[in-house]
Amino acid sequence: MASATFFISPLLFLHITLALANITINSTLYTNNNNNNPWRSPSGEFAFGFQQIKDTKLFIVAIWYDKILEKTIVWNSYSQSNNPTPTGSKIQLTQSGLKLTTPNGESTWIAQTNNTTVSYGSMLDTGNFVLASSDNNNTLVWQSFKNPSDTLLPSQILEPNLTLTSRLKDSNYTRGRFQLYFQDNFILFSPLAWPTELRYTYYEDFGPAAHLVFDERGEIYAEAKNGTRTPPKEDPNWRPDLVLDTWNNYYRATLDYYGVFTQYVHSKDSNSQQQGWRILRYIPGDICTSVLDGYGYGSGACGYNSYCSMLEQRPTCTCLDGYTLIDPSNVFGGCQPNFTLGCGADNSDEELQARPEELYTFKVLNDVDFPLNDYEKIQPYTLDACQQDCLKDCICAVAIYDNQTCWKKRFPLSFGKAKSGGQTIFIKTRVAPLGTPPGSKSKKDDDNNVKPVFIGLLTGLLVINVVLLAAVLSVIRLKKRKREIKVSSLLETNVHSFSYEALKEATRGFSEELGRGSFGIVYKGTIESRFYNVVAVKKLDGLAEGREKEFKAELNAIGKTSHKNLVRLIGFCDEGTNRLLVYEFMSNGSLANFLFALDKPNWDLRVRFGLGIARGLVYLHEECDTPIIHCDIKPQNILIDDNFIAKISDFGLAKLLLSDQSRTKTMIRGTRGYVAPEWFRNVPVTVKVDVYSFGVMLLEIICCRRSVLMLESGGGEEEKAVLTDWAYDCYLESRINDLVDGDTGALADKGRLQRWVKIAIWCIQEHNEMRPTMGMVLQMLEGFVEVSDPPSPFS
Ligand SMILES: *[C@@H]1O[C@H](CO)[C@@H](O)[C@H](O)[C@H]1NC(C)=O
Ligand SMILES: *[C@@H]1O[C@H](CO)[C@@H](O)[C@H](O)[C@H]1NC(C)=O
Ligand SMILES: *[C@@H]1O[C@H](CO)[C@@H](O)[C@H](O)[C@H]1NC(C)=O
Ligand SMILES: *[C@@H]1O[C@H](CO)[C@@H](O)[C@H](O)[C@H]1NC(C)=O
Ligand SMILES: *[C@@H]1O[C@H](CO)[C@@H](O)[C@H](O)[C@H]1NC(C)=O
Ligand SMILES: *[C@@H]1O[C@H](CO)[C@@H](O)[C@H](O)[C@H]1NC(C)=O
Ligand SMILES: *[C@@H]1O[C@H](CO)[C@@H](O)[C@H](O)[C@H]1NC(C)=O
Ligand SMILES: *[C@@H]1O[C@H](CO)[C@@H](O)[C@H](O)[C@H]1NC(C)=O
Ligand SMILES: *[C@@H]1O[C@H](CO)[C@@H](O)[C@H](O)[C@H]1NC(C)=O
Ligand SMILES: *[C@@H]1O[C@H](CO)[C@@H](O)[C@H](O)[C@H]1NC(C)=O
Repeated sequence: MASATFFISPLLFLHITLALANITINSTLYTNNNNNNPWRSPSGEFAFGFQQIKDTKLFIVAIWYDKILEKTIVWNSYSQSNNPTPTGSKIQLTQSGLKLTTPNGESTWIAQTNNTTVSYGSMLDTGNFVLASSDNNNTLVWQSFKNPSDTLLPSQILEPNLTLTSRLKDSNYTRGRFQLYFQDNFILFSPLAWPTELRYTYYEDFGPAAHLVFDERGEIYAEAKNGTRTPPKEDPNWRPDLVLDTWNNYYRATLDYYGVFTQYVHSKDSNSQQQGWRILRYIPGDICTSVLDGYGYGSGACGYNSYCSMLEQRPTCTCLDGYTLIDPSNVFGGCQPNFTLGCGADNSDEELQARPEELYTFKVLNDVDFPLNDYEKIQPYTLDACQQDCLKDCICAVAIYDNQTCWKKRFPLSFGKAKSGGQTIFIKTRVAPLGTPPGSKSKKDDDNNVKPVFIGLLTGLLVINVVLLAAVLSVIRLKKRKREIKVSSLLETNVHSFSYEALKEATRGFSEELGRGSFGIVYKGTIESRFYNVVAVKKLDGLAEGREKEFKAELNAIGKTSHKNLVRLIGFCDEGTNRLLVYEFMSNGSLANFLFALDKPNWDLRVRFGLGIARGLVYLHEECDTPIIHCDIKPQNILIDDNFIAKISDFGLAKLLLSDQSRTKTMIRGTRGYVAPEWFRNVPVTVKVDVYSFGVMLLEIICCRRSVLMLESGGGEEEKAVLTDWAYDCYLESRINDLVDGDTGALADKGRLQRWVKIAIWCIQEHNEMRPTMGMVLQMLEGFVEVSDPPSPFS
């Protein structure tokens, strides 16, 4: 029967469908029974009725594809400035149109026909919902096709007095940020000064047109008065000459909420391989670069403080480093800094003394373009001066440096887009409060957050936007605080106490192992903190139960340390047998990865590593309240951060894990090849054990090889097997160059090479009293103190 009707003339077909689908006067739809009984088209493909808004108890009056899984909405009354309506509402067809009544009796018109009397309504198979009057030969007195939302369907024609307006976001149907409209016989696309409907400069046009046609075959074109048809502007992403098949496919054209006009296709066959809506073609090809108001109003394709990039034919937005989404469910909604930025942001009493350079730092972002927002251009200038200048300038949000020129940009940043070969920008962000006085520091910071900080920065920009932004900001800020992992601090330090559950969650059930050390396994984790994001969580093993007091005492000692060359302890967990430590994450792995890789790190970098580690050890041995003996210095326990700074990890743990009983060989802490001889003797362990291990490691840093090699016998290389022996032999025989195996950087720095080898030999002296202190070692390394010739380390 169905197939027969399609061969009859369209007019007759229309007549038949109308006849099948009459909705009589006084017919009513309720939110409650909506799912079973919307007003369906004869084929059942389209339906009219209430649709519930996801995750709410609200409904909108809508038309949707009823036979596909997604129930995609093609028309809704929300865009006709009717708000969503609560459960218990109803729609009734009256002689004056469609009336919506809420449970408390308020009525609004979804469709009103004024002087003509409606005889019936009908949901057509085209997706058009119509109201007809019998007075006038069944004239259609109202059509959804003439009151479009954001979508056009085949056989729908857009007249010059009509517009398409995008929705706000995927799941919010309120009028959004983009509009398609007619002006002076052109079809234009513009961003709107949301939430008003004032239009900014257009970003795309369709050429001269009397109307926009989406014909029955699925073609879309602008038609001039004289009948000339122009397909959408020449754009490689609007593929012409496509074979369209309206028999087997659904087509729709939607002005997406990010401003792209897209034709989509969906198979009618539910068994089809290709399920879901697919992109057929779209304009503009790159919305990121298209939306740029000539006067600089608005935020561009993305919201403020984010930048736009195209990903699989769709735009996406990314917040600047240190910024987070204002509305976490809307990546196009703009971002806010998750610290206080702006003048007066640092006026809390505690921070009054802090200089801006200590409070802020820069994150570097490459290949982006923020064409506007400049307020100062300084030339000629150095990069350093540019950064310092921005740090001290409370208005400055971003600095750009190029060709001796420094540009400063103000908040909020707009029209950001990813662009290869684009600028390198320096984003001002807040640093962690290093070495700050103990106490309720973080609490103070939070109070600070709630203060409005944007006053004065935005004058001249849209006042409405500002007020909205500020309002949303403070709400989000308040919310955000609640989400942070609840932590309590150790009394005297900034070290936080985490629950085992929190750390389990942070490490996704201890799933990603970073490494195994002498004290336990280390896992990667993510915590929500103001200053750290990725962390390393170390699960300690071998720690006897019932030593809470010692554990806490030791953690207090570790927590009080603060040095550039020490890995920072962020927190801990102490629940029964579960003892975990949370450290800052070091993205470049351990020193061992560097030294023993195929590509040797260059000499200068190795020198920096050596000096850094020595400084860290001097701090542990000589500058803490009670000296901390590491006991396991080796390249695996030295971590390298983003800036290639060497940091000592695992310090302060040895004491905890060391057995109280007398030392036996099995109880020796430390690692073969690095342990000082006194471990095997009955003498007290002192800081000098670290000096010994440092000496071995210094040789490894110089030579880029392990302290002990497994060499095949008979290769003539046996003399090299043990690094300390070989190094001393080379030193005695004045063959120090052999140690660096042709490393040009080291050979060019001969004085230092000689000196450092001698220092290493001093460090590995058999008798601990012969070894220098770390303080002395550092002075010698730095060249402030002469290094005398060392005696044999083995006597
Ligand atoms: C639909 O309504 C129109 C106008 O009242 C009428 O002419 C037509 O016969 C109706 N069709 C059916 C099937 O009720
Ligand atoms: C619709 O309802 C009103 C009020 O109940 C009634 O007066 C009218 O006759 C009804 N019209 C039809 C066509 O049933
Ligand atoms: C009927 O009148 C209302 C209010 O005057 C108007 O908004 C609406 O567009 C009119 N409807 C039609 C079909 O002309
Ligand atoms: C509706 O009717 C009133 C008087 O009955 C008339 O003044 C008005 O112009 C009419 N409106 C339309 C759109 O026909
Ligand atoms: C109704 O349609 C017929 C034929 O199409 C036409 O002759 C007549 O004038 C129309 N009447 C009205 C009121 O439009
Ligand atoms: C829009 O224009 C069309 C003709 O171009 C006209 O038939 C229709 O009544 C107009 N609608 C409104 C609401 O002005
Ligand atoms: C849609 O967004 C507007 C503006 O942000 C908001 O007022 C409204 O509550 C949202 N609607 C839903 C259903 O979330
Ligand atoms: C039709 O009108 C357009 C502009 O509106 C013009 O460019 C075109 O040449 C015209 N075509 C014909 C056949 O007149
Ligand atoms: C701060 O921003 C960074 C993104 O740069 C994010 O990873 C971190 O979670 C944010 N912190 C808070 C507390 O929102
Ligand atoms: C760099 O700046 C100088 C001085 O303003 C200018 O002459 C030169 O063209 C610039 N070079 C580039 C590559 O922009």
